[in-house]
Amino acid sequence: MTLLQLDGISKSFGALTVADDITFSVSEGEALGIIGPNGAGKSTLFNLITGTIGADKGSIRFLGEDVTRVSPMQRCLSGIGRTFQIPQPFEKLTVFENLLVAGAFGQQRGEREVASECAEILVETGLIAEANKPAGSLSLLQRKRLELARALATKPKLLLLDEIAGGLTEGECAVLVETIRAVHRRGVTVIWIEHVLHALNSVVDHLLVLHFGRVLGLGAPQDMMNSQEVREIYLGMEV
Ligand SMILES: Nc1ncnc2c1ncn2[C@@H]1O[C@H](COP(=O)(O)OP(=O)(O)OP(=O)(O)O)[C@@H](O)[C@H]1O
Ligand SMILES: [Mg+2]
Repeated sequence: MTLLQLDGISKSFGALTVADDITFSVSEGEALGIIGPNGAGKSTLFNLITGTIGADKGSIRFLGEDVTRVSPMQRCLSGIGRTFQIPQPFEKLTVFENLLVAGAFGQQRGEREVASECAEILVETGLIAEANKPAGSLSLLQRKRLELARALATKPKLLLLDEIAGGLTEGECAVLVETIRAVHRRGVTVIWIEHVLHALNSVVDHLLVLHFGRVLGLGAPQDMMNSQEVREIYLGMEV
């Protein structure tokens, strides 16, 4: 079943076109990777999917419903969760409190239920030992984990990950990849923007390549990596 469908999504900031007639779909249970050079429009695409910026043209359907004009909050409540490229926790709140805010956001569930779900997510994301520390005191890896944990606390059906592995050591990256894999295995559909290609390709079923806001290719990771055009746009970057 199709979970997310974008049809002809376009967005410009003045003369700069950052999304140019983007069409693709994501099936339930799929893991899709998104790659593309800096400034290709990857994070903007997440902003369009989550509704923090509105599309100029085109439509977005989630779970069969047209959400193109639906608010970011309603999209989140209907099951679209995301992490931010630059972690944005509430620095003075503890790790657990950060999760509670995300878990309770607009939900009708009781406090106990939310608290127990948040505790489970802290275990799943390897943050339980940091539960009572202020988010502002965390290391980069822990911040990335908290970013993931906060997204999971909103109980997403679709999880959007924006460069969650960037800046981590090899070992730290491997641990985070295992967590993402486990989340995906328990049925969460994933779209993951990442420059760390070996991590990305060890998880995703398909790769979408963005360049100047356009879809340059979409297919099996190996086919995309072998494409001459994709290699050319990555010239000067590690493949
Ligand atoms: N709100 C905005 N107003 C004007 N320009 C913007 C805005 N948001 C993004 N841009 C521009 O749109 C282009 C795409 O930005 P975006 O952040 O989506 O790139 P990206 O592919 O995520 O890059 P990176 O790999 O560096 O994270 C960039 O040129 C950026 O400067
Ligand atoms: Mg980005």
